[in-house]
Amino acid sequence: MNHKMKRFILIISILLAGLSAGAQETPRRAYAICGPYVQNPTTTGFTVVWESNMHAIGWVELAPDDGTHFYNSDRPKYYDMRGFGNQVISTIHKVRVDGLQPGTTYRYRIMMKGVKEFKGPGEVEYVLGWGSNVYSKNPFKVTTLKKDYDKVRFDVYNDIHQQDSILNVLMQGSKKEELDFVAFNGDMVSSLAWKEKIRDMYLATGAKNLEGSIPLYNLRGNHEFRGVDTKHWFDYADLPEGKPYWTASYGKFFFIFLDTCEDKPDNDIEYGGTMLSEPYLKEEAAWLSKVVESDECKNADVRIVIGHIYPESASWYGNRKIEEHFVPVLNKAGISLWIAAHLHQWREDEPGKVSGANFPVIVNSTCERLEVTATKKDISLKAFSPDGKQTHSYNCKVK
Ligand SMILES: [Fe+2]
Repeated sequence: MNHKMKRFILIISILLAGLSAGAQETPRRAYAICGPYVQNPTTTGFTVVWESNMHAIGWVELAPDDGTHFYNSDRPKYYDMRGFGNQVISTIHKVRVDGLQPGTTYRYRIMMKGVKEFKGPGEVEYVLGWGSNVYSKNPFKVTTLKKDYDKVRFDVYNDIHQQDSILNVLMQGSKKEELDFVAFNGDMVSSLAWKEKIRDMYLATGAKNLEGSIPLYNLRGNHEFRGVDTKHWFDYADLPEGKPYWTASYGKFFFIFLDTCEDKPDNDIEYGGTMLSEPYLKEEAAWLSKVVESDECKNADVRIVIGHIYPESASWYGNRKIEEHFVPVLNKAGISLWIAAHLHQWREDEPGKVSGANFPVIVNSTCERLEVTATKKDISLKAFSPDGKQTHSYNCKVK
């Protein structure tokens, strides 16, 4: 065989291999490949979020936690309302369940009809239907928020940097039955160069450990601002106010979740002209000014901030900007504590030490589980390494 012929056969083989790889079979049915996980719990509802293996119409069926079998009756159905009158055909499903009783446990299952082809009006071809397991496993359980809390227990994970297996070990060591919620405090990935990183490098593992039950607050760190797929972070988030910063009230415990942006100036070579932090932080600071004036914040007994980059005026640009935009506002609010990340080591910034904050800022290290217990008198923090050893602790009085 001459050289030309060999080359021709090689090209044909490559083309054929490409064709067979591209001709993927339609799955027999839709099923969840990430989640479900619960976001934005309130006293009357919660949002269930999950990702499916194919485009599908998804819904949630709800049952009381009354000991009856899930198939005891036709359970009420809640749909993904983002279609404004159309069913949402998507791989990401967000279903709000509302109109419930405070402090009450409910069971739910997620349901799907996979869409094989949406040919045109009235011509939709479906695959077999699917629902999450209610036989060998119990249905998922969620408890709505109570009106009052004496104590709030939560765990914080940050700077995991897509080390999914370490996150798994850390979360397996948590005391899940105690938890009111879990917060991911940023840099869960190192970049969003491709969107599947969100699912495959932390969120599916996180969701599995939260068992479709423990609410998740997922914040961005600076690394979630990097890469061509940064906008897809929003696909996986149910944001209470439509923005990646928000507040949450657990009775008189008030939480402010901040989006702290990037760590270097916008024109840094690393960002390639894609950042717009200054006007964004100004907008967020204006929102924060309204938050601290709100009755919910003013009437709270305990106020805790959670945000990735800590304030420090003499440090990097990002830390300086966080101090400039947020600290003067927060200093008026009676904040007891800011739980931060980003530094990859534990640090206790007492008031006035490295920033003008009149409250302590505690920086949790990378790849550690931070267990937080807040009462109306004090807040206790304990950090644990993946081998289960306690590495640090901190206590402060509530203001
Ligand atoms: Fe960071």
